[in-house]
Amino acid sequence: MRNVLITGGAGFIGSNFIRYLLNHDAAEKLVNLDALTYAGHLENLVDIQSDSRYLFIQGDIRNRPLLDALFAEHELDTVVNFAAETHVDRSIEDPALFLNVNVGGTQTLLEAALQHWRLKPDDKHCREYRRGCGFLQVSTDEVYGSLPPAAPSFREDSPLKPNSPYSASKASADQFVRAYHQTYGLPCSISRCCNNFGPYQFPEKLIPLMILNALADKPLPLYGDGLQIRDWLYVEDQCSALKAILDNGQFGDIYNIGATNEFSNLEIVRMILHELGKPESLIEHVVDRPGHDRRYALDNSRITNELGWRPAHTFRKALKATIDWYLNNHTWVEQMTNTSYQDYYARMYAADTP
Ligand code: NAD
Ligand code: TYD
Repeated sequence: MRNVLITGGAGFIGSNFIRYLLNHDAAEKLVNLDALTYAGHLENLVDIQSDSRYLFIQGDIRNRPLLDALFAEHELDTVVNFAAETHVDRSIEDPALFLNVNVGGTQTLLEAALQHWRLKPDDKHCREYRRGCGFLQVSTDEVYGSLPPAAPSFREDSPLKPNSPYSASKASADQFVRAYHQTYGLPCSISRCCNNFGPYQFPEKLIPLMILNALADKPLPLYGDGLQIRDWLYVEDQCSALKAILDNGQFGDIYNIGATNEFSNLEIVRMILHELGKPESLIEHVVDRPGHDRRYALDNSRITNELGWRPAHTFRKALKATIDWYLNNHTWVEQMTNTSYQDYYARMYAADTP
């Protein structure tokens, strides 16, 4: 039985993960700490909000007194840190926020875990921790930077070469996790996943944005030539990978979570249009994202060989299921695409036609 702190659990992957754990591990007690930024929504969790194993707390991972109270009151022994600012385009507009939340927030969480789990909290040489404690940092393939077209996929020991303020903040947070493990012996691991898609993804990201624009017969804004490549994983497969790391992963290790589903953005958009029966004339090439990474791809060998994890979903079926989910969840879509999202969209895409 674990008492798990899930940070950022009202966002896309966090909410799917909470649902996944509740459905796959009856013994968990789950505390969801989320600041409810523009990206966090309790609407993502309505079906499980009254589950007795689940508790929501609104708050910020940078709030140390709040963290101390939660660790003490709920005897937390596991942290899964999803909380972050996550959109590359927003990081280009406001890098300081990403530094503050993603790096500062992770370090605050690490420090709280250290203080509450260390057997002798005041002894700087103590490397012993309460049994069963563990910290999992949810990171991204973007920390490795951009991969040339024919180059082999990134391995866990590939150098970190982040290119955007978002990926720089995630890489930096990863380094703090590593440092807490090396210096203090804190039981930590890191997962680095490729691009996720699936239910409850906020509409600013590629796949939901293109689905919703196509449904409304609005232009589909493809950055640059649209030939940038991403590796796409269905969110439920990311959840099963994270659970495999929690259950059987080694502290001090990093686990790449890749899907081996490399597609260009243009291919993705064409598949969405085809599925919805909409014309390709809706595609509009707009000015490229500054510093846009050309390709990401991950070598999965460690997690598949050591933990026996495999994705359970094929890309095309999962994309269809995702499209169906957006088609069938009008109320959720309306809640997400409110005035502030419209303002964001107008500001972000207004002057983008080359
Ligand atoms: P998201 O933007 O949908 O959700 C982020 C959540 O964090 C939101 O609920 C938000 O309210 C919360 N949050 C933000 N700042 C906070 C703070 N200071 N304190 C507490 N809560 C805060 O993001 P997501 O797509 O679900 O990503 C979750 C994690 O997975 C992130 O760490 C991200 O870097 C990582 N990741 C995402 C992907 C992807 O494709 N989406 C891929 C690899 C890794
Ligand atoms: P995104 O979903 O923002 O994820 P990330 O930048 O973290 O990979 O974008 C995925 C890809 O889609 C990326 O190459 C940028 C591109 N993209 C567009 O071409 N147009 C858009 O409107 C958006 C949001 C993304």
